[in-house]
Amino acid sequence: MAHGANERRQFLKFLAASPLCNALAGLDFAHAAAGTGERISSPDQAIDIFDLKATAKEILPPAHYGYMATGVNSDKTLHANREAFEHYYLRSRRLVKVSNIDTRVEILGQEWPSPIVVAPCGSQRAFNADGELATARAAKKLNHLQLLSTVSSTPIEEVAEARGAPIWFQLYTFGGWQGVRQMLRRAEAAGCPVVVLTVDLPITAAPARHTLERAIRRDTRDCATCHEGSGIAARPKPMFDGITAVDAARGGVDLTWEFLDRLQQETQMKVFVKGIVTAEDAERCVDMGVDGIIVSNHGGRADDSGRGTIDSLAEVAPVVNGRTTLFMDSGVRRGTDILKALALGADAIMVGRPYLWGLASFGQAGVERALQILRDELRIAMEFAGTSSISEIGSDAVGAFNRNMEPA
Ligand SMILES: Cc1cc2nc3c(=O)[nH]c(=O)nc-3n(C[C@H](O)[C@H](O)[C@H](O)COP(=O)(O)O)c2cc1C
Repeated sequence: MAHGANERRQFLKFLAASPLCNALAGLDFAHAAAGTGERISSPDQAIDIFDLKATAKEILPPAHYGYMATGVNSDKTLHANREAFEHYYLRSRRLVKVSNIDTRVEILGQEWPSPIVVAPCGSQRAFNADGELATARAAKKLNHLQLLSTVSSTPIEEVAEARGAPIWFQLYTFGGWQGVRQMLRRAEAAGCPVVVLTVDLPITAAPARHTLERAIRRDTRDCATCHEGSGIAARPKPMFDGITAVDAARGGVDLTWEFLDRLQQETQMKVFVKGIVTAEDAERCVDMGVDGIIVSNHGGRADDSGRGTIDSLAEVAPVVNGRTTLFMDSGVRRGTDILKALALGADAIMVGRPYLWGLASFGQAGVERALQILRDELRIAMEFAGTSSISEIGSDAVGAFNRNMEPA
């Protein structure tokens, strides 16, 4: 015994002194789950999407990176989104033929090559001069469904043209009912088949995005040269063109179930609700006949619930039970995350920051790289799960740890 312990000590000493160990230390293993933290110089150097994150962080001015990175308060929910994926493990299956992996999905009757959807993220020109147009061109090249934010920094008509296929419009209630109606008409005219009502920001005050506030304080540039007025979001957004009395607060109208009903009656577009995190609210959405639900906490940027959305999905999916289309987002960073979400009942997932990191790093090519990395990783995850198609991914592909991190 003593002899064995001595040998182990000798071996560890040898390892500690070896150049290999020094090289590994340089890689910062605290970061190993998240790339090396070093900037890369071309999209193809990205091994995982965290290489794009490190690059975006170096390239962007602090305030713009802060806007992208921030959660609320101490970023508890932002971190919970990532941590919650660790509550689930994958149940790998063997001796299954997986030489023909098919990642196609059908969403509202339309076929897509991948269940990865481009989430609506505002102000993309803060990350790259081409902004939403670069994202649209990448989505076109790889044929992904793209959602466009109300606070897009590029007009919806131009984004739709660059995408070359219908995009979905995400709605905030700026401008009150008059503003909403005008934005709906514009989205309909631009060919959007779906409007996505974001319901997780009902408050009139801006959420407490402390990480952003601190980043702004560190930024020495004069914001007024780009932003009109003093507010960070003061630059007028193209969707507000022609809307009189744009209410700076999101609560231009009360965001309630009555509003959802009114929206459904007002528009010819199908209606999705983004930001649902509980079974009760999902049930009510289904009762109201919504065309889809997006389980989301806004990437940890809205409420401070402290709960990851993959856990919310596990609560919501059994209630929805296929009665309407179900997406999830917030914290999806790996193909294995996507597999877990699909196994827990999502029809598709959305990503926000992963493609924004690509956009900030390398424009269109960076968005393409981010999407391609996630596609490749999903394919590998499906092979190990012994599933050749998305519809074959059942709840048996995933297991949940109990609180002691033991399989339940
Ligand atoms: C910089 C940024 C801007 C966003 N802008 C919007 C928006 O305008 N409307 C909206 O519904 N969600 C917005 N979101 C939330 C995303 O649609 C999505 O829910 C979230 O990014 C998913 O989490 P992830 O970033 O961890 O992938 C934004 C997210 C980020 C990071």
